[in-house]
Amino acid sequence: GKVGVLMGGRSAEREVSLKSGGAVLAALKRQGVDAHGFDPAEHTLAELEAAGFDRVMISLHGRGGEDGSMQGALALMGIPYTGSGIEASALGMDKWRTKLVWQAAGLPVPDYALLTADSDFAAMEKRLGLPLFVKPANEGSSVGVTKVKQAGGLRAAYEAAARHDPLVLAERFMSGGEYTCAILGDTALPVVKIEPATEFYDYEAKYFRDDTKYLCPCGLPVEQEKAMQDLARQAFAVLGCRGWGRVDILLDAGGTPYLLEINTSPGMTDHSLVPMAARAAGIGFDELCLRILELADV
Ligand code: DAL
Ligand code: MG
Repeated sequence: GKVGVLMGGRSAEREVSLKSGGAVLAALKRQGVDAHGFDPAEHTLAELEAAGFDRVMISLHGRGGEDGSMQGALALMGIPYTGSGIEASALGMDKWRTKLVWQAAGLPVPDYALLTADSDFAAMEKRLGLPLFVKPANEGSSVGVTKVKQAGGLRAAYEAAARHDPLVLAERFMSGGEYTCAILGDTALPVVKIEPATEFYDYEAKYFRDDTKYLCPCGLPVEQEKAMQDLARQAFAVLGCRGWGRVDILLDAGGTPYLLEINTSPGMTDHSLVPMAARAAGIGFDELCLRILELADV
């Protein structure tokens, strides 16, 4: 049947989505799929319905594409789509409520706090320690994120994040490294370790710099990697996620894993992590795209 690849959109991650969608569209076409790109920022929902897609691959990131709203529209139109459903997408977009659910399920998350303009910033710096991370709750690709290293820096970081979202989080720094675990169907793919050359894995490091190091195999002992994969699978399941996704994990100094966030429509650019993990598992990019699409039928 006819497949629509949704890409672009209006979120802060529009450019990333155009790269993800472009790569996915080319892969599906190479595999003989009757695939067509569709940018919901340039068309109405009526036009989406009129396009007559039998299935839709969602390559949108951020609000309006990864947050349940597009999933709801597609559900009402009766068009099967890739990835998580309405509820899990909405929950996964919100880093604060994601943490609340994980905590309620007994899963480990780094210590954090919600910030408002009235917060006692000095007390918060003391409680969480420096450095710490400040981020908008509903963004992706590190948009609006600041690593606060100096005492007194929290308020400015709060203000930068609040430009993107009224909901702002401060999170304790974990010194054991940043990892990510992709989920494809029922399987956790090999864990990828991320070693940015910059201060942290920001937007530049994610998409433009070629000095970010990605290790897959990640270099951890097998049992430790397996524990992270199990944790990622639980984190995915408890949010009610479906199809595929990517769980970002931090290790503390002692090597204990903590859940950072989930991405229900992860990047598929040539710098992105899920394609790397899949490749390490012997799944090429074209096959990965086909498998994600097939999972839309479940
Ligand atoms: N939010 C970006 C696209 C990612 O997680 O890959
Ligand atoms: Mg994210």
